[in-house]
Amino acid sequence: MSLENQFKQKITSYTPLDQPIFLYWKGRVGLYALLKAYKIRANDEVILPAYTCVVVPNAIIYLGAKPVYIDIEKNTYNMDPKLLKKAITDQTKLIICQNTYGLSTNIEEILNISKSYSIPVIEDCTHGFGGTYNEKPNGSFGDSAFFSTQWNKPFSTGIGGFIVTYNPLIQSNLEEINKSLIKPRFMETAMLSVLITIRKYLFSDKFYFKLVKWYRLLSQYHLVIGSSQKDELQNSQIPKDYFKGMSSTQMREGIVQLDTFKDLLRMRKKNGDVYTNFLKKHDKAHVPRSLHKDHSFLCYPILVENRAHFQKLAKKAHIRLGDWFNSVIHPIQHNFHHWQIDPNSFPNADYISKHVVTLPTDTKHPEKILKYLEKNIAYLK
Ligand SMILES: Cc1ncc(COP(=O)(O)O)c(C=O)c1O
Repeated sequence: MSLENQFKQKITSYTPLDQPIFLYWKGRVGLYALLKAYKIRANDEVILPAYTCVVVPNAIIYLGAKPVYIDIEKNTYNMDPKLLKKAITDQTKLIICQNTYGLSTNIEEILNISKSYSIPVIEDCTHGFGGTYNEKPNGSFGDSAFFSTQWNKPFSTGIGGFIVTYNPLIQSNLEEINKSLIKPRFMETAMLSVLITIRKYLFSDKFYFKLVKWYRLLSQYHLVIGSSQKDELQNSQIPKDYFKGMSSTQMREGIVQLDTFKDLLRMRKKNGDVYTNFLKKHDKAHVPRSLHKDHSFLCYPILVENRAHFQKLAKKAHIRLGDWFNSVIHPIQHNFHHWQIDPNSFPNADYISKHVVTLPTDTKHPEKILKYLEKNIAYLK
């Protein structure tokens, strides 16, 4: 069996996504391919949560379409379905919903509304691979779904992503569109192999901040392959060589990673439980129990006061806190007009983006993190 089919088979063995899978250099490229397959074009509107990564609206804007943002619910960190109807117009062609941090979105309510308007839903499962909603896998509810296998995603191929669609017309459109995928260059995949090896052997709580700092710095100057290119964070012009396929290096790594994915998922859920118990005991904001069963706990969001200082203290204590999403369209802090969004119009998303930090769930030592939280409990909301 080809490497590509082995990887695809491994993916489907974890979540019954029993439909053809399409592989890409990054998850965002998969989204872009999907938007093209749905024939999204100038003046079309695509609805999405106002709490996401900037590369999501980018893919919409690259096609000349308009991103229409919706505020989130404070407990699920996902699109508030109550606001959906009001955002739908005659120009609405698609709705994108998300599994922020692995939390399920209220997909049934969203589907009820989308069906009544005959608007297809794409699930952004970049955080949600391995999670379920009402015992059905994330990514199996909408018309199509896309996933990410970037560094800090449910399982990692360095960078990477894939999509699945349940719509035969979209499948055949994708087959045509994918004929123009660019093949990753040898130097790119060689560099990715080196980065994957470095991460494997040097990744630890102690080295984490140094590694991230160097990675971000070098990737800014295109000296290593970054998750995002400078262009993607400065304006909404499509970068050169954007539409790239997945390399065999990524597929090979994906197969290795998926071998131990179930154990990782178990660890994430267990740590999620540990954090919830702790936060509940201290009467602090936590992921409600009712949302636990389905959560894949990619990471665990908490809300803090004086975040910059809280992060500084964490760095000193070698606690790997995540800083996403630190903006309504992470990591953008200025020039929001390029992405057609005003953070002030989305009070929940704006508030959370200013107060959230995420706790790692892929740790064997949650007690170290609890100790840190206990010591700094005054910062927690
Ligand atoms: C919510 C969300 N959607 C899409 C993406 C894009 O995934 P990728 O980095 O694989 O392109 C990300 C990346 O972090 C994300 O957080």
